[in-house]
Amino acid sequence: MNLNYENQITALGGMQDTVAMALLNTSKRMMTAVVDFQELLMRYTCALKEIQTKFEVLNTEYNVRFSRNPIVSIKTRLKQSASIVEKLDRMGVEFSTENVEQHLNDVAGVRVICSYLDDIYTIAQALTDQDDVTLLRTKDYIKNPKSNGYRSLHLIVSIPVFFADQKRSMKVEVQIRTVAMDYWAELEHQLKYKQDIPDEREITSELKSCADEMSRIDSRMLELRRRIEECSEIPTEDEILLEKLQRINFSVE
Ligand code: GTP
Ligand code: MG
Repeated sequence: MNLNYENQITALGGMQDTVAMALLNTSKRMMTAVVDFQELLMRYTCALKEIQTKFEVLNTEYNVRFSRNPIVSIKTRLKQSASIVEKLDRMGVEFSTENVEQHLNDVAGVRVICSYLDDIYTIAQALTDQDDVTLLRTKDYIKNPKSNGYRSLHLIVSIPVFFADQKRSMKVEVQIRTVAMDYWAELEHQLKYKQDIPDEREITSELKSCADEMSRIDSRMLELRRRIEECSEIPTEDEILLEKLQRINFSVE
């Protein structure tokens, strides 16, 4: 009887050890997952820095060579952690850092706003021509606008990012659009988050009409810029050199 009692206590102690061990392993796995996810987001943040620099370099080069900035602004954004979890869940994919990298293309996003329609394609080509950039997907909502009027050029690219002890290929979603397209998309985006708008149909149709009008303005502005460029006389090599010399600023900022 006494022996039995002792056996029971030993058995209980053993069970507690097993439970404690299981709990410890679970919390260790959870902590590892949190650290891995944090590192994944860090890698996407670095990919955004790389891609932003690529666009800034192109803009700087254009400015020096053609005295014009094709890019008006560059915005980057990292998808919210809750949105990452929610999107994978919606896709029916289990949450893991591997699945985030494999199934999501838009964790790192960059939006490039250009002055003119042709700048969009020039910039996109200059990016995808770079030998460390792999173009994974293109969606041209300018040539094929969405039925609501949305226009933009979307690229999914992959770029290598060099870390202390490894090189990783990271996916980035690039959206390139004109100032007018951006202005329109920002307002249309607001509409998506409003509920029970009484005159939604009218607003939607008015927005579509604005998008079409803006598209015509984009085309007319491009046409005007080309006409203005055409009527300026083609400068000689000496004139180009002189003009570049006049614009040289040796100060380092
Ligand atoms: P998501 O799963 O929604 O991220 O998109 P997808 O893989 O089908 O890609 P798509 O290229 O169609 O859209 C990507 C992003 O473009 C969206 O997350 C928005 O930022 C933007 N976008 C696409 N369609 C619209 C639209 O109709 N209106 C606005 N305002 N933005 C849009
Ligand atoms: Mg998205």
